[in-house]
Amino acid sequence: MNPLVPIIGKISKIVDETPDTKTFHVTTSNGKPFTPLPGQLAMVSLPAVGEAMFSISSQGDDHLEFSIKKVGMLTEALHDAEVGQEIGVRGPYGNGFPLDFCKGKDMLFIGGGIGLAPLRSLINYCVANREDFGNLQVIYGARSPADLCFKEELFETWPKVRDMRVDVTVDKGDENWQGNVGFVPAFLEQLNPSPEGKVTVTCGPPIMIKFVLQSLAKMNYQPDNIITTLEMRMKCGVGKCGRCNIGSCYICLDGPVFTLTQLNQLPNEY
Ligand code: FES
Repeated sequence: MNPLVPIIGKISKIVDETPDTKTFHVTTSNGKPFTPLPGQLAMVSLPAVGEAMFSISSQGDDHLEFSIKKVGMLTEALHDAEVGQEIGVRGPYGNGFPLDFCKGKDMLFIGGGIGLAPLRSLINYCVANREDFGNLQVIYGARSPADLCFKEELFETWPKVRDMRVDVTVDKGDENWQGNVGFVPAFLEQLNPSPEGKVTVTCGPPIMIKFVLQSLAKMNYQPDNIITTLEMRMKCGVGKCGRCNIGSCYICLDGPVFTLTQLNQLPNEY
C-alpha cells in the first residue's frame, strides 16, 4: 500500500476544548485507521481544502483523536466540520515516546496550552497501563481558565487515578478560578517535585520549554531523563521536504521525540 495515500475515515465525535481548540475523533468502517505509538503524528486531510501534520492526542479501541487549534485555512475548515464529515488520515509518523525507557519509572508531565496534546497520548497510555509505571504527575498551564484543554481529564478523570496528581495553573485567573495563578516554570519550582527515579516529558510554547528546562536544571534533573517533542517541525513527515532539519538531523526521521541530552548535541536552532 502506498504510504502517501490517505485512509479515508470520518469524524465520529467533536469535543470543544477551548474557544479555539477542538478534539476530533476519527474512525473508519474498520475501526481506527492504524494503531500509533504515543507521541506519533498523522497527516490529516480534508477533501478540496488541504492537509497538515497533527499530533495524535489519544486513541480508543475504534478511533484516533486529534486536538486541533484554529490557526489557518485547514484548521478553520476542520473547526467548521460536523460529525460525519469525511476525512483523510495517513501515518503514523515519527518515533513516539520511548516507552521501554519510561516503564517502571515515575513520570512527570509538564505542558503548556495545546502542548498538552502530544503529552496526553502518553499520559493516557500510562493510565491505561497503570501497573507499568510509578507515580504520575501532570503540571499544566494555560493563559486563562477558558484556555485549559482536556478539562474533564484534568479535573475529573486523572486525579482519580491511583498515585496520580494533577497541578494546574493559569497565567491570569477569572472570578471563578480558585487554582494557582502564575507561569508554568515558577509553578514547577514552587511544587518542587524530586528528580529521583523520574522521567520528565515536556511540551508547550518554546518560551515555556526554555524556562522549564532552566528550572529543571536548577532542580537537578538530568538531561538523560528529560524528554521533549519537536513535533511542530514535522511537515511532510517522510524525509522529503527538507523543512525539518536541525543541522544534519531530520526531525521527522530521527524524532520528533528527543532527550535533552540528544538535543544538546544539535545546533541551538530549536
Ligand atoms: S518533515 Fe519533511 S523532511 Fe522532515
